[in-house]
Order: sequence, then C-alpha cells, then structure tokens
Amino acid sequence: MGSPSEKRRSTDALYPHRAMIVCAAGGRRTEADALAQGLGVPLVGELPDEPGSLALVLTDERLQVQLTGPGAPGPVYAEFVTGATARRGREAARADEGLLRAAGARHGQTPDVIDATGGLGRDAWLLAALGCRVTLVERHPAVAALLADGLKRARDDETAAEIAARIELIEAEAVAVLGERTADTVIVDPMHPPRRKSAAVRKEMQVFRALVGADGDSDRLLPAAIAAARRRVAVKRPRGARPLPGPAPSGSIDGRSTRFDIYAGGAREA
Ligand SMILES: C[S@@+](CC[C@H](N)C(=O)[O-])C[C@H]1O[C@@H](n2cnc3c(N)ncnc32)[C@H](O)[C@@H]1O
Repeated sequence: MGSPSEKRRSTDALYPHRAMIVCAAGGRRTEADALAQGLGVPLVGELPDEPGSLALVLTDERLQVQLTGPGAPGPVYAEFVTGATARRGREAARADEGLLRAAGARHGQTPDVIDATGGLGRDAWLLAALGCRVTLVERHPAVAALLADGLKRARDDETAAEIAARIELIEAEAVAVLGERTADTVIVDPMHPPRRKSAAVRKEMQVFRALVGADGDSDRLLPAAIAAARRRVAVKRPRGARPLPGPAPSGSIDGRSTRFDIYAGGAREA
C-alpha cells in the first residue's frame, strides 16, 4: 500500500474528473463503503446536480458510471444478460463477425484468448459465447469494478452463467500479465481517438472517455502481445487509422467501422 499522499496522487491521475461513489440502494451501504475504500474515492449520499463529476452509482440492480449535471448522457455499465452484447453472444455461432475471424475463432475452433484491453467486456463475451476461454485484463480499477459487477450478474443468471464461467477477470496492467501468460490469441483494443459515430455510441463514449481517458501508451502492448501469443494477435483499429507503431501486420480484416490488424504470435505452442 502507498502512503495517503501517494494514493491521492495516483487516484487523481486515474480520474480526470472529480470521482465519487453514490449509494442509491438502501441495502448496499456496506458494499458501497468497500468499493469507495478499494477505489480510493469518496462515498457520497446523492448524485450531485452540478456538472463535471463522474459518479459510480451502486443501484439495487447494478454498478454503473455516469457524468453528473443537466443533459449528461445516461449511465454506462457492463451488461451480459440482456441487451446487445447478450444478443450478439446468442448469435455468435451463426454470425460473420470480424472479431471471430480475427481471433481465429471460426469453423469449430475455440482458441484460448487473452483480451488485454477489457473495457466493458463485449468482445470477451462474444468469444466466450462461442466457447473460447478468455482471460480478461483491465487496468483501470473502476472499469474492472464495472466488469466484476456485470460478470457477477451473469454468473447469477441461468442462461448466461455457462458463458461467464469461461471468463477470468484480472485487474492489472496487461503488459505484466502478458509477461507471465501465453494464449493462442491475444486481442488488443485500446481507446481510439474521437471520431464521428452514432449519437448513442457517442454518448456512451463520452462517459467512458471521461473515466479512462486516452490509452496513449498502447504502443507498448503490441510487442508484449506478440511475445505472449502462440498463434496470433488481433489489434482493433478504426477503419482508415494507421496500424500501431511496430512490426507491420501480416494481414487485416475489415469490418463496417473497424479493422483488425493481424500479427503472427511469437510464443511457442504448448
Ligand atoms: C476501447 S476499450 C476496450 C473495449 C473492449 N474491447 C470491449 O469489447 O468492451 C479499452 C480498455 O482497455 C483498457 N486498457 C488500455 N490499455 C491497457 C493496458 N495496457 N492494460 C490493461 N488495460 C488496458 C482501458 O482502461 C479501457 O478500459
């Protein structure tokens, strides 16, 4: 554990906005307390009216993150039981998804995967729905808390539990995990620079970007990912963006708005 001033410094660096935990569920005060302690941010009684803060809100149903103030976008959370990610998972076997082709998870193949950039776990869920074992790595503690909450709810749901059981969440810097583990496929999807998207995606990105910022150090991930991959690395990029600096990709797979750059893995087959 660092000293209180070290903890304060690192918390300030993690949260570009004023961050807080809000307990909006009468019976979950102890959990909210533990979350506030663990994340090193204050627990407050109510969502503030003023704009400019970022609140992790514990409701009766889930943990969600939202910006405060009038006109702020709606809450963002990890959701695997209902909604688009769950549907994508149910359709995974029939879908012609760029991600599945990029990961080598097609035609009955279920590679084991390290997803080095967890985010809200959508890519990991699709791969796990197809039958892949996925190590899901996320370094931002608040995002890791959202993932842990989403996965817990999935484990408690009888239709989603089997898929959730194939996902192991690790809160850590991916370069460290990639130095210790190997997998058939490593997925890398760092935060992309802002661009034009649908209104709904823009709103969600606004919240997520306020929480995570930009992944300005993503160049470090590529060599670590290549060294850890037994077969391949798939790096998600916006269409039209340059590949990550480093070795040239051996191929790429284009999707509607994204592209996957493929690199041969450098780890030996087990
Ligand atoms: C664009 S999001 C990933 C979205 C994810 N693919 C999904 O399907 O939801 C990028 C995430 O990767 C995390 N991240 C970026 N670099 C990382 C690193 N070196 N180690 C661990 N997590 C990282 C960021 O904190 C952020 O949550």
